[in-house]
Amino acid sequence: MKSSVGVSSKQSLIKATPLINRFPFPFNEDSYRYSNNSRSLEPPVILDITPEYFDEIHLKRQLLQNRHDHAYQAFSHSLEAQWEIFEMIINEMATIYPDFFHLIKEGNSWTFINHLLNEKQTFTFGDHDSLPYEPLDFIGRHIQEDLIYISQRDGDLYMDAGQLCFPANWSIAFNLGMTYTEFHSPVPQFSDSGLAERVRNFLMRMEAGKPWTRYNWTLTVEPILDTFPETYDQWGKKKYNITQENIGQLVHLRVEDQRLFRLPRSNGILFSIHTHLISLDELNANDEWANRFDKVIQDLPDYMADYKGILSYKDEITAYYQSKK
Ligand code: HEM
Repeated sequence: MKSSVGVSSKQSLIKATPLINRFPFPFNEDSYRYSNNSRSLEPPVILDITPEYFDEIHLKRQLLQNRHDHAYQAFSHSLEAQWEIFEMIINEMATIYPDFFHLIKEGNSWTFINHLLNEKQTFTFGDHDSLPYEPLDFIGRHIQEDLIYISQRDGDLYMDAGQLCFPANWSIAFNLGMTYTEFHSPVPQFSDSGLAERVRNFLMRMEAGKPWTRYNWTLTVEPILDTFPETYDQWGKKKYNITQENIGQLVHLRVEDQRLFRLPRSNGILFSIHTHLISLDELNANDEWANRFDKVIQDLPDYMADYKGILSYKDEITAYYQSKK
């Protein structure tokens, strides 16, 4: 792949909308409980290119270079489905963002140009030896989304491949090969309540051309996207630095814009995750959101706060909002 990243000159190509005006705020009510909060995805697209594109692609590639096995895992039997995902994404890139990406097809000989990064790759579609990485691993390096491939076989859902650079404390290396029920087993009261089973049945009935979306959320101390369980020793202790003076800058609402697509050829599912971070201080630019977030946190049951790793500073957040009143 030819590359000469002229990032600063290209940054201006992406519309610089302020974060507060485009943040995917996840709460519709003053209370949050687990539910199947999936809704129909409109418009039905995978990608969202934001001003963070350059920083996030840079970080992704560093992670894939330095800790590849933590950020990318795939079974060899997923390769055909990987090409299916690759094709869906590359077509969408060229169609929806023609100023950024270009695709030339001459039979199976394809040339992909990423104008944002000044990169060009010619390859034979379907021949993974013609790409520098496996198809999922290649295309994930050009987009901000993490990509998980779920196969549907033997009446169940299996995590069979994934490029996961920005995990909210879970690991593709640990989860590869698990069933849907197994990889959700750490979530408290999700399986026991029957909700996990209902969501699994919903996913297994998903149809091609009718994608779904949902928001998931947690909190992260400092704007760290790569919260791998494998590096917990580096980021996990940061919550002990929180004080009333710095909490507004340190604590970030972390929202995952998750999208679900049935893959018609393989009959698997593509699960994409675009992670967004905003500090509590930045969130204050929208009064309604800040008030609602305060109420959601006050109302959050301890079992959920504990699972999300925020139990030890939940009261500090409430004190922060009280000091603002
Ligand atoms: C096939 C698509 C999906 C995949 C691959 C997936 C994967 C995961 C993973 C790996 C976790 C982290 C578990 C851990 O702590 O290790 C998780 C958490 C969770 N998932 Fe899913 N999930 C999917 C779809 C859904 C759907 C449709 C729902 C709808 C209710 C859902 C609800 C949840 C909830 C509530 C959590 C806990 C999040 C939190 O409280 O921070 N998942 N999921």
